[in-house]
Amino acid sequence: MKRFFNNPDSAGCGQQTMRQFSFFADAGCGRQTMRQFSFIPGAGCGCQTMKKLLSSLLCLSLLTGIAGTCGCQAKPETEPTDDNVFVIGFSQVGSESDWRVANTKSMTDTFSDDPEYELVMENARQMQENQFTAVRRFILEGVDMIIIAPTVEEGWLTVLTEVHDAGIPVIIMDRSVAVWDDNLYLTNVGSDFLRQGNLAVEWLEKETLKDAENGDESEDGTVRILHLQGTLGATAQIQRTKALEDAVASHGDWELISQLDGDFTEAKAYEVMTTYLAGNHDIDVIYSENDNMTFGAMRALDEAGITYGEGGQVKIITFDATKEALQYCLDGKINLCVECNPLFGPQVKELIEAYRRGDTIPKHVYVNETAYTAKDLTQEFVDTREY
Ligand code: AHR
Repeated sequence: MKRFFNNPDSAGCGQQTMRQFSFFADAGCGRQTMRQFSFIPGAGCGCQTMKKLLSSLLCLSLLTGIAGTCGCQAKPETEPTDDNVFVIGFSQVGSESDWRVANTKSMTDTFSDDPEYELVMENARQMQENQFTAVRRFILEGVDMIIIAPTVEEGWLTVLTEVHDAGIPVIIMDRSVAVWDDNLYLTNVGSDFLRQGNLAVEWLEKETLKDAENGDESEDGTVRILHLQGTLGATAQIQRTKALEDAVASHGDWELISQLDGDFTEAKAYEVMTTYLAGNHDIDVIYSENDNMTFGAMRALDEAGITYGEGGQVKIITFDATKEALQYCLDGKINLCVECNPLFGPQVKELIEAYRRGDTIPKHVYVNETAYTAKDLTQEFVDTREY
């Protein structure tokens, strides 16, 4: 466990002064906690007036560290365990992509500066089982709300029913869950992944028409599309894939030459692309379901000596539009960046505040997004990109 204290003075046993410090932990279990505490060291052991089991557990973990350091008994006190602090358990997918890192930062930045909130994040390392464990721990800890960014859509009914039975409201964030009863969550906030996919195929349709007009199409007129898919079963994969598969079905000259599972990571995409390129070079388009997979694919293409981007053999379509991908786009290495905006921490907070005021909140909230080609970009725009 890695802990960072801005006032880690745990040796002042016997002092009765209240102190505050921040606690940021990335425990082996994947928990990252950003919160503020006050405590009174040296006043005997045990937590007084704990209103939440969560706080008790945190006290225990703190006590272990403090007692181990100064060899005396320390007594944690209450803040922010008073009733005014709204504790949110957040089950995040992982840190598989630059998008995800930006999304986590948006969430932690949004809540860490506000003393009315405490955000406890569990990193599921892209495993749904870890999310179930985290959510069940949040229930035991008695948090005020649970936010889930689900790895995949299926399999949530049991655990969401448990949360519902515990009376804890849930927000589904980023991706979606496939449950028949949408009363199991308050709202689902995130991207419209199908729209993103449709933006991509609409662009490709125009480009291939232009190529045909200019005589730039392949010899037999076929558009050979290699599809790099994200984590199978994730909404971002399902919807982006649907847009492409529907478009291929309605374009007689489009051929889906292969679908490779890149799991939304650069390393996996590089691996599957390298294997694929060992036997096949006849590719016109790569439709890559996120930027990190695109970076892996670009590396594999470079090693295989295949050109891509403006004027290259392969057109590249990527999703997320992170700063790095936009720079490649501006430099002519990526043809289209479809935006997937991860910076919706503030929007999530607004929804929570509306819920706490008793306002009705919509069942689905989409974030604003667009798509970029090089002509839509300037260096200044890329330089000031937040993620
Ligand atoms: O769910 C959002 C998708 O997941 C983003 O496109 C991707 O980068 C992330 O891993």
